Amino acid sequence: MHDITASAPGSKGLPRQLARRSAIDPFIVMDVMGEANLRQAGGEDIIHMEVGQPATPAPRAARERAQQALAGERLGYTEALGMPALRERIARYTAERYSVSVAPERVVVTAGSSAGFVLAFLAILDAGDALGLPSPGYPCYRQILKALGVRPHLVETSGQGRWMPTVQDVERLAAGGAAGLLLASPNNPTGTMALPPRLAEIAEACRRNRLWLISDEIYHGLEYETQAETALAHSGEAIVVNSFSKYFSMTGWRIGWLVVPEALVRPLERLAQNLYISPPAISQAAALGAFEGLEELEEIRCAYARNRAMLLEELPRAGLTAILPADGAFYLYADVSRFTADSAAFAKSMLKEIGITATPGIDFDAARGASYLRFCYAGPGPEMREAARRIAGWLKPR
Ligand SMILES: Cc1ncc(COP(=O)(O)O)c(C=O)c1O
Repeated sequence: MHDITASAPGSKGLPRQLARRSAIDPFIVMDVMGEANLRQAGGEDIIHMEVGQPATPAPRAARERAQQALAGERLGYTEALGMPALRERIARYTAERYSVSVAPERVVVTAGSSAGFVLAFLAILDAGDALGLPSPGYPCYRQILKALGVRPHLVETSGQGRWMPTVQDVERLAAGGAAGLLLASPNNPTGTMALPPRLAEIAEACRRNRLWLISDEIYHGLEYETQAETALAHSGEAIVVNSFSKYFSMTGWRIGWLVVPEALVRPLERLAQNLYISPPAISQAAALGAFEGLEELEEIRCAYARNRAMLLEELPRAGLTAILPADGAFYLYADVSRFTADSAAFAKSMLKEIGITATPGIDFDAARGASYLRFCYAGPGPEMREAARRIAGWLKPR
């Protein structure tokens, strides 16, 4: 399940050795999902709590827009920065949601936020640079940076600090020569947020130290206590990354966006033209429709809130007492050190014995992750309840 052999590029059966940049770690959750899918195809009754994706389809209006586009549009290449109508609609959404005004020209539509990271990193970081990444954090940041020859500079956070970096961390990054900080709030895997005034302070510290601030806002919209703040409210220099994958329930459509300072638009356009030409046309059409589905999306968010409340009651009863109530996203990050010193083996047994998948913390935090499991509660309510029942029965005798 966890392939840690990736550090040695092989050459068996190949004319030459692989490039060192290919020797990145796997995205463990995708490996876990692959194994769970195989078991499911073999007839096992599996409940998925590993991969971070909604069980719901795209909003109805998005699917209708995609159907109309299929029936009547050419669906050729679009502008590299995205269709002007979509860039405008995203700018309007930003104003509606946060009361922050953003010129549509600063919006860059990307093939999922994943492509947005690649474009942004290429635009602002050279090989040999370092970027600050809070740990635990989304694993692909580290691996994309490594593939680009950029050094991830890990910033260890703690549960007491809601797993968020501090102004002192920013000062330390600056003193250590890092080029910037990438922050996700709500965070993956912990679901915790930088509560006011933390984001404002961090933005100010980045500005003072001339560091880039990259704000991953992909879980915005999925909040349960207080609304997440956008870095755009505190900095005109921040690079904001967002996506239709999570809140908009469109993971497989591979569509997201960046909001960037004006001076970055043309460099990003040149990169996008050359690397991807343009984001997928049909997904852009669907994304335009997605903004008509906000009521539907609110219902989905309410279903997550119910799952979250149920699990925050049931999992501690089952013995998983050390869970920080997540402010947003759809994850709970549970300390399982009472039961195991190897969360990957623990997750494997849980899948084999009770058909529940969860992601071992080592995906997000190589140093401390063996003590943690991440549960995703974006599944249907009855399945999440059944998962809690199975986990309780499984943990009881331990
Ligand atoms: C924090 C975070 N950022 C970015 C992504 C990438 O999402 P996508 O490429 O689907 O927009 C994910 C996916 O799980 C994530 O959790």
